[in-house]
Amino acid sequence: MEQVKVGKFIATMRKQLNLTQNELAELIGISSKTVSKWECGNGMPELSLMLPLCKILKINLNELFSGEKLTDANYKKKAEENIMKLIEDSEKNKENIVGGRALGKVANIDLNVSATHRTNTEFWDTIGSEFLGVTALPKWGGYLPTEEKLKLLGNLSNKSVLEIGCGNGRSLKYVADLGATELWGIDISENQIKRTKAYLQTESIDAKLVCSPMENRCGLPTDYFDLVYSVYGIGWSTNLDKTFELIHSYLKKEGLFIFGWSHPIHKCVSFEGGKLVFSNSYFNEEWYCGDMSDKAIMLSNRKMSTYINALARNGFVIESFIEETDKERAMNSETDFGKKALMLPTAFVIKARKL
Ligand SMILES: C[S@@+](CC[C@H](N)C(=O)[O-])C[C@H]1O[C@@H](n2cnc3c(N)ncnc32)[C@H](O)[C@@H]1O
Repeated sequence: MEQVKVGKFIATMRKQLNLTQNELAELIGISSKTVSKWECGNGMPELSLMLPLCKILKINLNELFSGEKLTDANYKKKAEENIMKLIEDSEKNKENIVGGRALGKVANIDLNVSATHRTNTEFWDTIGSEFLGVTALPKWGGYLPTEEKLKLLGNLSNKSVLEIGCGNGRSLKYVADLGATELWGIDISENQIKRTKAYLQTESIDAKLVCSPMENRCGLPTDYFDLVYSVYGIGWSTNLDKTFELIHSYLKKEGLFIFGWSHPIHKCVSFEGGKLVFSNSYFNEEWYCGDMSDKAIMLSNRKMSTYINALARNGFVIESFIEETDKERAMNSETDFGKKALMLPTAFVIKARKL
């Protein structure tokens, strides 16, 4: 469905009836945020809400799906187009996975940078604390061996470091404990920045924190950092080339860039009837919208070659590429995530150097 067109149509019909978003939300029995989300084109009404919504807006389902009022002449043609689109969309709606979590209601979308930033910021503003310490150093991701085993960071004494997507600030504390003297963090979410600030204050650690999407130049110093790192941060970028170009510019010559993210093969394979089966195409890099903890997120699965080629294009050489599983930890796990990690990498980490 063309969500933006449908959203604008809902807004137009609501206004024709002199209803506010709040009033419409109350009539349906949902929150005004949900109405706002539809009207911004960030999601379609759930199936169970479509009929009540149509009744209130004095439209029919075919008009809702078309995002416009229909005449008798074009009603039948539009109905057939809409049925075909519904079938195509339901074919595309597949399960997806981020880290250890399966996502609900996944639908492919066209990338819209501002809608993605808005949606993901709201997600991290509200749900950020659920990830406390789960996606932070010494873990690089999934069932990878931890930094204590991998020792990718090396000696950080007197080093200046920058974390991309600093989240709750636990990784900044980890690198401070390893001797890094100047700490910077960037994150898109105001609340995550507040969480980092509050946590580091309790640990008497000083850090400069910047609230911005990583894809935007935001006043961070150039040719300055010995190390830029990220744990489950980079995959949120809507523009990998721009992000790597900026990170390259922040680093001193020979500076290190290390990041961990969910391994793309992990999203392709799921447990069905006790067996691992290929359920998604490895080649599919389309953006999708899914639910985690009942909040929308927007992401895309990138192939390994997409990360590697983007690093090469932006002036990095790769020193290590790690996609191992910590077998002991995986064997002790009762979860499907752990069992799967014995068969394939659930996360990867890349250590690259600025040329
Ligand atoms: C999985 S969390 C990991 C954070 C950190 N490693 C931790 O454990 O606290 C991802 C972080 O990336 C941030 N983020 C998402 N999209 C971003 C973007 N486009 N630019 C900068 N940060 C972003 C989120 O707000 C979130 O704090």
